Amino acid sequence: MMRPVVYVTRLIPEVALQKLSQSCDYRIWEGEIAVPRDVLLKEVPKVDALLSLLSDRIDGPVMDAAPKLRVISNMAVGFDNIDVREATKRKIMVCNTPGVLTETTADFAFALLLAAARRIAEGERNVKEGKWKTWGPMILLGHDVHHATLGIIGLGRIGAEVAKRGRGFDMKVIYYDTVRRPDLEKTLGVVYKDLKALLAESDFVTVHTPLLPETHHLISEEQFKSMKKTAILVNSARGPIIDPKALYNALHNRQIAYAALDVTEPEPIPLNDPLLTLDNILIVPHIASASIATRTKMATMAVDNLLSAVKGERPPYIVNPEVLSK
Ligand code: GLV
Repeated sequence: MMRPVVYVTRLIPEVALQKLSQSCDYRIWEGEIAVPRDVLLKEVPKVDALLSLLSDRIDGPVMDAAPKLRVISNMAVGFDNIDVREATKRKIMVCNTPGVLTETTADFAFALLLAAARRIAEGERNVKEGKWKTWGPMILLGHDVHHATLGIIGLGRIGAEVAKRGRGFDMKVIYYDTVRRPDLEKTLGVVYKDLKALLAESDFVTVHTPLLPETHHLISEEQFKSMKKTAILVNSARGPIIDPKALYNALHNRQIAYAALDVTEPEPIPLNDPLLTLDNILIVPHIASASIATRTKMATMAVDNLLSAVKGERPPYIVNPEVLSK
């Protein structure tokens, strides 16, 4: 039997590549930046499977250039970089890596929240710039996290883990989601609010929804108006859930106090983006799931999904299972 041909769009942990090489022939983009579109289009015509990342736009034209493509296995829980509708039309399976990054991402969202509340990034900058002259009673005063109100937008797997962390810090935890979760309300001690009420009551707002047409710019000018002037906004989900122009205005006019972002629109954020001129924002380069253990698990899971699909089996995590019954 011919070995399936795979294109891997970036260097991923070695164990996953070893597993892949046992039954497939693969080529890999070894560049530091995302694979350029022309390279991707040149690589895909022969492939049976694609192991992609969230920084790769996999749309109809890419699929058209890949007539043998059976599976797009994304090494991420989010799959908004893939046009799933176009894939389903062509009976191409789309797979993701849910579950394994839940706690790692929740830890990181909480790290951002703590760093923003207690001004850790500014503190570090001050030390390195030689501004630490003495202990000061008025220096870098931040906001308490304990006993504050934490508003979680999206109480899915990651949102629920963030809720646990909030409860561990004695926070009052409220949430908004399109579906109510009475089970989690009971087990986690969280209270449902509509979005407007959540924004008005929260000292910290953290975003954990997927990026969908309905969540695009979910937080925009009107939502910032509902928030407390002391509020801190954390986003470790997807950049376009927050309208960046409205965010700039809200931070610049001190309509809210601070934002901590792991994700931006666009990514990477250009160096001349006005958000980078603000002193009340902390931005890191989309690293919420970036622990050694979790990235290894994600890569292995992406390979397992891909191998099942090329063998004609149902992949463990397929986002468009309807292609299997067609
Ligand atoms: C990371 O952002 C992911 O979707 O896995």
